[in-house]
Amino acid sequence: MDLEQREINVGTISPYFEQYFGHKPTVVAASPGRVNLIGEHTDYNNGFVLPMALENNCVVAVAPSPTGKHRWCGSLGDTIYEIPVEEASEKGEPFWSNYVRGVVALLGRRGIEVGPVDMLIDSNVPRGGGLSSSAALEVAVCTALAAQFDADISSKDKALIGQAVEHEFVNVPCGIMDQFVSAHGKKGHALMLDCADLEYKLIPMDDPEVSVLVLDSAVKHSLADGAYGQRRKQCEEAARILNVPSLREADLQMVEATKAELGDVRYRRARHVVGENNRVQAFAGAIATRNWDAAGVAMRGSHASLRDDYEVSCPEVDTLVSLCDSIPSASSIYGARMTGGGFGGCIVALVKTKDVDKVGQELLDAYRAATGIETIYLVTRAGDGARVLSGK
Ligand code: GLA
Repeated sequence: MDLEQREINVGTISPYFEQYFGHKPTVVAASPGRVNLIGEHTDYNNGFVLPMALENNCVVAVAPSPTGKHRWCGSLGDTIYEIPVEEASEKGEPFWSNYVRGVVALLGRRGIEVGPVDMLIDSNVPRGGGLSSSAALEVAVCTALAAQFDADISSKDKALIGQAVEHEFVNVPCGIMDQFVSAHGKKGHALMLDCADLEYKLIPMDDPEVSVLVLDSAVKHSLADGAYGQRRKQCEEAARILNVPSLREADLQMVEATKAELGDVRYRRARHVVGENNRVQAFAGAIATRNWDAAGVAMRGSHASLRDDYEVSCPEVDTLVSLCDSIPSASSIYGARMTGGGFGGCIVALVKTKDVDKVGQELLDAYRAATGIETIYLVTRAGDGARVLSGK
C-alpha cells in the first residue's frame, strides 16, 4: 500500500482546483478510510462489526461546470476526463470514474439530478491495503454532490448508496461496514454496528496509553475477489441448513448440533461467524472499561478463527500476527489480528503507546527477516466521518 501522510484540506485542494478548472470550488467534502478492530466477515451475515474511522480522508472538491459537461479529475496530476451528462450515470472509463458514476446514478434514482460538475479528488487514505479507500471515495463524492445540489441525504443513506455503488458499478459484493463507518465515524471513538438493523453505538477509543497500530503485509492475493463471494454463498447455505434467516440468528449450540448436515466447510464458516459475533460483544465490553487484556484476547481469537475456520488469511499475514508474540517488545502488544477482507492486506494491533514505535520497528525488521518483504506501519487514531469542509 502507498502511504501519504500529506495533510489534505480546503487550503490544499482549492488552489489545485482553481489551477485545473479556472474557478473556485463551491463545496469541499471529506470522508475517511477505516480500520476494523474486530467483527470480520460478519456484516453480510447481519452480525456485529466494530471498526473505527481513520484520520486519513478522501477529499472531494466540486463546483458547477461552465462547460455543460462533467469534468472529473481522479487525483492530483491525473488527466481531466470530460463526461457528457447523459453518460455520467452509466458504467464507463476510466475505471475509478465508476465510483463517481455510481453515486451520480444512485442519487438520480432518489430524484436528485446531478448537473454538470467540475470535480477534483485527492486522498491520503492508503490504497490497496484494505483500509477502505474506495468506501472513503464513494462517501466523500456522495457528501460533496449532496451538498452541491442541496439534497438532504442522511449518513445512513450515504452508506447505503456507497454499498450499492460497489455492488452495481464495481462488482464487489461487499457488506455495509466500510461505507457505514466512513459516513458515521467520530473522532476519538470506535463504532459498534449491528448490521441487522443498522443501529450503532459510538464507544470511546481515546485512552492515551493505548495505540492502534496498523501494519501492511504488502501482499494481495488475486483469488480474493472470487473467494469473498464464495464465503458469502457458503454462509447463506449454512443459514439455510440451520433454518435461520441469517447466521446472526444461529448460536454455537445449533452449529454444533448441525455439524454433520453442514459438512466440514460450512460448519467452520458458521462457527467463525457465530464466534466472531460473540467476540465483538466481548471486545466492546472490554474497551468500554479499558480492559485491554480482554480486548486482546478477543482479537487473538478472531485471528485464529479467520485463519483456521474462515480461511481468509494468508501465510504472510499469519507471520505478522505471530511475530506479535515473539518480537522483543511482544509484552507491549495486547492483541493483533488481520483486518479487512483478508487474503493479504493489513494487521491491526493494540499496543502500549509508550512502546508503539519500538513495536512497529521491531515488527518491520522481523517481518523483513522472515519474508524478505519491506513494509510500513501506521499509528492510527479514530477520526471523524463524512463531513462538508467548506461550502453550502
Ligand atoms: C470488506 C468488505 C466489508 C466486510 C469485510 C470483511 O472490507 O467491504 O463489507 O465484509 O471485507 O469483514
